[in-house]
Amino acid sequence: MNIVLMGPPGAGKGTQADLIKANYPIPHISTGDMFREAVKNETELGLKAKSFMDEGKLVPDEVTIGIVKERLAQPDCAEGFMLDGFPRTTLQAEALDQVLSDLNKKIESVINIFVPREVLLQRILGRVTCNYCKTVYNLRFLKDQQTCAKCGGELGFRSDDRGEIAKTRLEVYLEQTLPLLQYYQERHVLNSIDGNREADEVFADIKELLEKIK
Ligand code: AP5
Repeated sequence: MNIVLMGPPGAGKGTQADLIKANYPIPHISTGDMFREAVKNETELGLKAKSFMDEGKLVPDEVTIGIVKERLAQPDCAEGFMLDGFPRTTLQAEALDQVLSDLNKKIESVINIFVPREVLLQRILGRVTCNYCKTVYNLRFLKDQQTCAKCGGELGFRSDDRGEIAKTRLEVYLEQTLPLLQYYQERHVLNSIDGNREADEVFADIKELLEKIK
């Protein structure tokens, strides 16, 4: 099962990826998570990515394509994978097609989660993540706003979830990523899902799609 999760910042890609992982044994490949880990560990990749992320801009295509290419060649992707946050530009989508064709694979479904802009901003500004197990929460639904309910780890804000940066990320999405919907529509793999509902309702629709291709 080779799938891509698409949608603007705050649409719920990471939240749905966790639900998909719990039901289907495929690796979750999030370029955002890979970059954040690299920034935290101050690796060469992290140093390259940090300034772009801090401004809410995309990390250059050649850097991003390189890490995804390497990751997709790993043995755990042999039976399928879930890309989250990649591709985000037409160049990335074309490079992905080439990488997959070299591996004799193709994308089976692109799941596009759509949510109104005002809801996206509200979600992004309220997001907290466990610094340890990476579970994502929203302050609006938390009684204890400091501790992870799953592992007891400390909760923290993402540095790019502040007002102006969040707005830039939404603009970058509209300019550079939204055109990809047509790219995948033309390839007959696009499935759009209303993400402005409870997470388990959104997941029920995603599950229905995945059952058809698993
Ligand atoms: P990335 O980490 O990919 O961030 P993003 O696309 O901006 O997406 P988010 O993580 O903000 O949102 P999400 O859709 O996963 O929502 P979530 O589930 O967390 O990218 C970060 C940066 O890395 C980029 O800006 C760029 O610099 C760089 N980068 C990454 N990939 C790149 C690429 N391919 N090319 C170049 N650069 C790249 O949910 C958000 C909040 O909403 C949470 O609080 C959650 O609890 C809540 N929520 C979720 N679902 C629901 C629901 N159904 N109802 C109510 N609340 C909900």
